[in-house]
Amino acid sequence: MKWPDRAPAGHFAYVNGRYLPHIHAAVHIEDRGLQFGDSIYEVFRVETGHFLDEAGHLDRLEGSLAALGLSMPVTRAALRLIMRELVRRNRIHDGLLYLQITRGAFRRDHLMPDGPSKPTLILTARASDPAAATSRLACGVKIITRPDERWARRDIKTTQLLPAVLAKTAAKREGASEAWLVDSEGFVTEGGSTNGWIVDAAGTLITRPLSRAILPGVTRATVLAAAKEAGLPVVERKFTVAEALASREAFLTSASGAAVPVVAINGESVGGGRPGPLTLQLQALYDAKSGRRSG
Ligand code: PDD
Repeated sequence: MKWPDRAPAGHFAYVNGRYLPHIHAAVHIEDRGLQFGDSIYEVFRVETGHFLDEAGHLDRLEGSLAALGLSMPVTRAALRLIMRELVRRNRIHDGLLYLQITRGAFRRDHLMPDGPSKPTLILTARASDPAAATSRLACGVKIITRPDERWARRDIKTTQLLPAVLAKTAAKREGASEAWLVDSEGFVTEGGSTNGWIVDAAGTLITRPLSRAILPGVTRATVLAAAKEAGLPVVERKFTVAEALASREAFLTSASGAAVPVVAINGESVGGGRPGPLTLQLQALYDAKSGRRSG
């Protein structure tokens, strides 16, 4: 098979009980994850060999499974061992671990299969480029806005990601690296793969409250807790694109980057086009808080 992503030789993936060379790792063509997006996923950040916010990601994984009536293929303890073994085999110091659970392979039928469950469990891991990550945190990123065209259960981390794929690809074409998705009332829901935050003129941190409209970001929760502990004023409320454009600072949170500054929205600079002091403070607070919790 010609593999589109040039994974380095010696790179391993995990599929249903086996660690395989990445190039040979595959699932069945009748897998419901492939045919219906009948699957959920998680992305864990690995830093200096440790998982950040691991418990939060595992809790959300269990929540996504429960929401779709999917079952955990292995115990949580076994999953944690598999995650560590994959990181070890791939010699990952800093990177991301991707985990997906599908309902499994069945004869194609929209109806969920009766009978015993046989979920597919897939894990991959790859190293991140520390220079690129440092530059994103230090220099910030540009974003665009797009209508939010996703389904109504965005709190479940499913692999039905086409609206996010389209929005993020549009962002890239416009020289930006994320798209903030906007609901029918003009409020920002979140980014294609990140949660969104602004700081208003009074210095208050603002992020959309949890609901079915957004993914309950694990990094969002850690940053929120860190901000509250540090005594920073925080309000969970919706904000509009106009408010974001007028904000003192804006930033993104996700497992792939905590508090990434936003320096421009739709080509207009935000916060003077430079990362703001509160965003940089939150990066440091996040590092201190999530690092202590790593396992
Ligand atoms: N994305 N919102 C959406 C829609 C996301 O897909 C993500 C994560 C987040 C941030 O969640 P967390 O802080 O738990 O990573 C918010 C992952 C990284 C991805 O799809 O690659």
